[in-house]
Amino acid sequence: MAPHESTPLITTVRVRAPRRRYSHNVLRRFCTVALSSTLIWFLLAFVVSVLLWPHHGHYRHDDDRWSWPGCRGRKVSYEELQRILLDTPTPEKAEEWSKYYTSGAHLAGQNYSQAVWTKEKWEEFGIKSEIVSYDVYLNRPVDHRLALLEKASAKKDSNSDSSTWKVAFEASLTEDVLEEDPTSGLDESIPTFHGYSASGNVTGSLVYVNYGTFQDYEDLIKANVSLEGKVAIARYGGIFRGLKVKRAQELGMVGVILYSDPGDDGEVTEEKGLEAYPKGPARQPSSVQRGSAQFLSVAPGDPTTPGYPSKPGVPRQPVDHATPSIPSVPISYEDALPFLKALNGHGPKAEDFNKYWTRNTGLQYKGVHYNVGPTPDDVVVNLYNEQDYITTPLWDVIGIINGTIPDEVVVVGNHRDAWIAGGAGDPNSGSAVLNEVMRSFGEALKLGWTPLRTIVFASWDGEEYALLGSTEWVEEYLPWLDKANVAYLNVDVGVRGPHFSASAAPLLHNVIYAATAAVPSPNQTVPGQSVFDTWNGHISTMGSGSDFTAFQDYAGVPSIDVGFHAGSDDAVYHYHSNYDSFYWMQKYGDPGFVYHRVMAQVFGLMTAQLADVPVISFRAGDYARDLKGYVRKVEDKLEAALSPTVMDVSALSEEAIVELRASTSSSITSDSSSDIIAFVQSLKRLHKALEELTESATRLDEKAGDLERRAEEDNIPWWKWPSRLHLALQIRKVNTKYKYMERAFLYAKGLDGRSWFKHVVFAPGLWTGYAGAVFPGLTESIDSHDWANAMKWVGIIEECILKAAHGL
Ligand SMILES: *[C@@H]1O[C@H](CO)[C@@H](O)[C@H](O)[C@H]1NC(C)=O
Ligand SMILES: *[C@@H]1O[C@H](CO)[C@@H](O)[C@H](O)[C@H]1NC(C)=O
Ligand SMILES: *[C@@H]1O[C@H](CO)[C@@H](O)[C@H](O)[C@H]1NC(C)=O
Ligand SMILES: *[C@@H]1O[C@H](CO)[C@@H](O)[C@H](O)[C@H]1NC(C)=O
Ligand SMILES: *[C@@H]1O[C@H](CO)[C@@H](O)[C@H](O)[C@H]1NC(C)=O
Repeated sequence: MAPHESTPLITTVRVRAPRRRYSHNVLRRFCTVALSSTLIWFLLAFVVSVLLWPHHGHYRHDDDRWSWPGCRGRKVSYEELQRILLDTPTPEKAEEWSKYYTSGAHLAGQNYSQAVWTKEKWEEFGIKSEIVSYDVYLNRPVDHRLALLEKASAKKDSNSDSSTWKVAFEASLTEDVLEEDPTSGLDESIPTFHGYSASGNVTGSLVYVNYGTFQDYEDLIKANVSLEGKVAIARYGGIFRGLKVKRAQELGMVGVILYSDPGDDGEVTEEKGLEAYPKGPARQPSSVQRGSAQFLSVAPGDPTTPGYPSKPGVPRQPVDHATPSIPSVPISYEDALPFLKALNGHGPKAEDFNKYWTRNTGLQYKGVHYNVGPTPDDVVVNLYNEQDYITTPLWDVIGIINGTIPDEVVVVGNHRDAWIAGGAGDPNSGSAVLNEVMRSFGEALKLGWTPLRTIVFASWDGEEYALLGSTEWVEEYLPWLDKANVAYLNVDVGVRGPHFSASAAPLLHNVIYAATAAVPSPNQTVPGQSVFDTWNGHISTMGSGSDFTAFQDYAGVPSIDVGFHAGSDDAVYHYHSNYDSFYWMQKYGDPGFVYHRVMAQVFGLMTAQLADVPVISFRAGDYARDLKGYVRKVEDKLEAALSPTVMDVSALSEEAIVELRASTSSSITSDSSSDIIAFVQSLKRLHKALEELTESATRLDEKAGDLERRAEEDNIPWWKWPSRLHLALQIRKVNTKYKYMERAFLYAKGLDGRSWFKHVVFAPGLWTGYAGAVFPGLTESIDSHDWANAMKWVGIIEECILKAAHGL
């Protein structure tokens, strides 16, 4: 889903050596002796309960054993657990789950039986589960129409007689039923529409707005293309679709058509000689990308309850700033052709603009010239969109394995709802993976395993509309998550091709490297290679577009999002289309479901490393290092904004800036130049704070490594229980510091104009949605040349960095 950041910040990859080998004999002997000594046991139990878990003040004896790192009387060692997680998942089971989820419609809040089925499966695996419901506000499609109208030539000069308009083209707004693909012919298949789109019936001339990015619209304004009162036709891609609608609406356009241009399918196109689905890997010409038109970068979740769970009785506020007010419809390129051709010869051409307008124009061979328009007054578009807005329950399924440490929790999730009856890639490849992971943990449970940390598994509902199920859940459990949640692991589209990709908080990078290095790749071009070996090691920053958003950006919980994606030579993935089906997955996406199995192995190992290793597997040093990289990114951006001649802002002297002021750029007035100087100077403070953070992070990581070694060696004799207790206490202390490190970067008042987003380092880009922005407060201030505001953000960020440094 999320396009990758273009500049990898990770250049060197360090894979941690394989983990400990506990000596079982030593372990067993120690445990037996320790347990037989009831006096010591009671004493320790008391001390442990008082000292180790002061917030809870009670000792929990799930399996009547005293638990601590190194000796937990464990029936299943960490090595055995890893083996179970590698051995249990099978392609056959993954295929079975995939088949189930993709056999019927499951829009948000539409299919209770899938929630019940999921809960029952999880309980079968041995994991206690429940269904949690929220009442959310969302839309259901009722009716739509999209037509190209032309004024009949005979009566061209009579202005207002509507009978003179003739329909030149009526868009089908449907996807073809394909004989080979049973999903495409299901009775309950879901119409093509946009989540949270506005109802309306609008008519106007058409303008081609390229991808509909902020910059694309700026280019049009600069070229004096009239937008007001027009209908936009934009191609999908680049940014979150709702933001294309948002900008159109702000510029006075009355409706938006979004289509999928095969030019974005790289080499895999009919033009290049490949057959279209289902005969071949190219895009099915009638395929339509449904999806949400909500303004994801403003706030996810139920738009009537920002910051609160949508429970009965919670006050609702009117929907205003996070959903569109103009109608929009998604269409196929087949349906788009007559509209694009109607633009031929009108207004400038794409090639009159910059390279972003021409790089993927893929329909010339069908007679499209990519003129921008607008179409003349006698060629207009009628866009009619009727949506029914309701408040309806949706159902998260939550499964829990209690750990022995009550206030350290790992949450693992995938969403279940899909835009279509299928959804074999999005999201149910992830659902199949999650089920296999849980079945594997269930196997360990049967052998008597108890994790150190509690694991919460979630099958979210309503992700597609606006990350509803996860956001409402985080909003409900925030006080608990804030105290206890160590990490969140997300898998959305688990598999749509063979290329591993990841985005994550820097604290967690090493967990991804370790897990991928431990799982053999199905690609044995090089014999023996692991998933890690087939991957470039690039981990993107966290943007949005899936359920990690509320965890990472709202609760300050370091998060991971992983999946196997399609490369430029792989079969085209029919995103949010009827053809994201079981048949497509079986035939093109993952024949044999082998990558489903591999994804389950990687996901299981990551979960285990976070939940079951005594010292939390974070790297504070990685965070400090990446933060330095992000500050450099801000400086680069500033340089670009100020002048192409300034090479290095961080080295700029005050005189140089004054000179710069004298020599430059219309957009910088002399009023603001002293602000720029102050801002540039202040960035030095961030570097200084980061030095401090690096120092304390390095110290903490070293300490953690040392404690981990000692816990692994397990060579403190039982009668030296005070030393053991001391070790446990030290581990506890380090873990607590790690746990709260990410929270230091939350700012209670939130980002400018979107206060739901609390994280000062990561947020979805204001105008990208999927892709992550770093230091959004700074980058947005630079974009708007608001230097005073930039200074404000330097202060806030500096405070966060120092808070993190002092907390470590
Ligand atoms: C719910 O999902 C199941 C399994 O995919 C499917 O068989 C059923 O038809 C769906 N129900 C509805 C109401 O769409
Ligand atoms: C939409 O508006 C046009 C007039 O602008 C009207 O002719 C048409 O019937 C309307 N469509 C619907 C479905 O109401
Ligand atoms: C821009 O377009 C308007 C009409 O749409 C026209 O009146 C105006 O002269 C144009 N300006 C330039 C700079 O081309
Ligand atoms: C987990 O622990 C909580 C409270 O300590 C308890 O209410 C719950 O029933 C336990 N769940 C399982 C699955 O054991
Ligand atoms: C398979 O592995 C080889 C060698 O690592 C790599 O070059 C190639 O891109 C991989 N192919 C896929 C589909 O992952």
